[in-house]
Amino acid sequence: MPISPTPLALLPVRRLTTQDLLACADLSENRGWPREEHKWGLLLAAGTGHGIDDPDGPGLAACTVVTSYGPGLAAIGMVLVAERHARQGLGRRLMEHVLAEAGDTPVTLHATPNGQPLYEQLGFTETSRADMVRGRFTFTVPAPDVPVRPATAEDLPAILRLDHEVFGLDRTHIVARIPAFADHLRVAEEDGEITGFAAAWPNMDTHVIGPLIARDPGTAQALIASLASATDRPLRTDIDVRHSSLLGWVKENGLDTIASNAVMIRSLPDLPGDWRRRFAPLTVAAG
Ligand SMILES: CC(C)(COP(=O)(O)OP(=O)(O)OC[C@H]1O[C@@H](n2cnc3c(N)ncnc32)[C@H](O)[C@@H]1OP(=O)(O)O)[C@@H](O)C(=O)NCCC(=O)NCCS
Repeated sequence: MPISPTPLALLPVRRLTTQDLLACADLSENRGWPREEHKWGLLLAAGTGHGIDDPDGPGLAACTVVTSYGPGLAAIGMVLVAERHARQGLGRRLMEHVLAEAGDTPVTLHATPNGQPLYEQLGFTETSRADMVRGRFTFTVPAPDVPVRPATAEDLPAILRLDHEVFGLDRTHIVARIPAFADHLRVAEEDGEITGFAAAWPNMDTHVIGPLIARDPGTAQALIASLASATDRPLRTDIDVRHSSLLGWVKENGLDTIASNAVMIRSLPDLPGDWRRRFAPLTVAAG
């Protein structure tokens, strides 16, 4: 077995670029995750990737992406350490590096059971949980009759306003990318007011629904049903477990829980914004 000249946890961390997309996807695959190249493309372009080059060859030994929402919040996602280098301090090294860069900025992430012990040691606390659900949408239990239509370019200012109000911070740099990143973007509109919006973006063989922002669970249901009717692929989404009625409804319509992640935060008691109208993130990797 080759001996690394430097102890693994002392290796330098470098900024990643979109040139590193395939190496990041290789790392996902190495840990049994899907390659998700489309998602990696968005994260590396809209966020800041950090990685540690594999001392034993080409590719990355570890990586993560930080999406910044200004001084109010940053989201960490895709924390990955190659299987062959696991449990040697690389995950901790990378996390300490990005937390030092974040400084006083509160940081959030969705933790897998694998990652949660490390994040707890680094000062994160669990504020909620999100269920990852997946399956073919069956239309067994109809959504309420809330008007939903495809979004147009003219809707963007209203979508940005609603998103800011519900997310609690300006994320124009992310939301403005959604029309190009997603295959479908729908808005709910009542009495001339946009009361919700949701996107469906392609990820491997599924369409992921997110973000999903809506005035109430009925509006969220109408947005999901509208997106489901636009695709033949299975759906996937990550619903905050506090939205138990929406979770129950998607399960009656053929989706099953495939994973449960902890929503964690550091340096703040809870996430900003209004969780009651925030049903699903764009991706668990970016909030
Ligand atoms: C989670 C992950 C990033 C940790 O990276 P790592 O380099 O192996 O972790 P470290 O060696 O820095 O360990 C830091 C601490 O995390 C905890 N930890 C790491 N792997 C763990 C595991 N499999 N089970 C339980 N705790 C674990 C331990 O407390 C460990 O400290 P210790 O070794 O002193 O006991 C890595 O296992 C991984 O890539 N997993 C697959 C992808 C994933 O789930 N990522 C997290 C996304 S939120």
